[in-house]
Amino acid sequence: MDKKLQILQHKIPNHIAIIMDGNGRWAKKKGMQRIFGHRNALTAVRQSTTAASKIGVKFLTLYAFSTENWNRPKLEVDALMNLLVTSLVKELPEFQRKSVKVNAIGNLSSLPTKAQNILEKVINETKNNKKITLTFALSYGSREEIVNAIKNISKKVVNNKLDIKKIDEKIINNHLYTFNLPDVDLLIRTSGEQRISNFLLWQIAYAELYFTDVLWPDFREENLFNAIIDYQNRERRFGKTSEQITDNDE
Ligand code: FPP
Repeated sequence: MDKKLQILQHKIPNHIAIIMDGNGRWAKKKGMQRIFGHRNALTAVRQSTTAASKIGVKFLTLYAFSTENWNRPKLEVDALMNLLVTSLVKELPEFQRKSVKVNAIGNLSSLPTKAQNILEKVINETKNNKKITLTFALSYGSREEIVNAIKNISKKVVNNKLDIKKIDEKIINNHLYTFNLPDVDLLIRTSGEQRISNFLLWQIAYAELYFTDVLWPDFREENLFNAIIDYQNRERRFGKTSEQITDNDE
């Protein structure tokens, strides 16, 4: 049966986050350099965005470059940064045509100027698009994000701009890079690894986790739909009992 038909329209995850892993292994299997894997990852990015948008997912967040990824060989880092720039330039008309609003989270000021400039342009030119928000996590680390939030909140307390008693989950949320994004409902990681790797630690508190052996460059619409179908068969209890959830569902 067509995978799309198996998806329940009333249980579409609002926010999907993906740890796109396995580009290097994909290339190695083909006897190629790692960067060949990254280049071939773009089809998966495009297909996931289109497929998610088509079924009504409103937010898609992709882990494109972690703070730890700066430690990779310079040649690979440079190639990834170049790929980011050329892909954003190339995809901008598609983002417009498909009403994709582009967003970025992470320590963006550490990116090369060229990448910062094109990101700013794409974010600005797509800011009124409504169909789906596509967030790239770039030079992103969740612990660093939380440390920054704590520093900024502390500054406000020290300067008497914020009463310490008022600090709650909402205030912390508002100081994260993701202040304008909802919590993650479904987190997907490809390539068989079952780790979170410092990605959206706060935001995945109640997310369902889905791991697949598919290497990211091979990830297609069907794989995304499989993850969503799996998600829809889970029971999200948010700490309540199964009976409470079933009663509310009917
Ligand atoms: C993980 O595979 C992938 C990355 C660290 C980079 C992700 C980059 C892309 C998907 C390229 C396109 C993205 C943009 C935004 C242009 P890996 O290299 O860790 O693979 P391995 O674990 O098999 O070595």
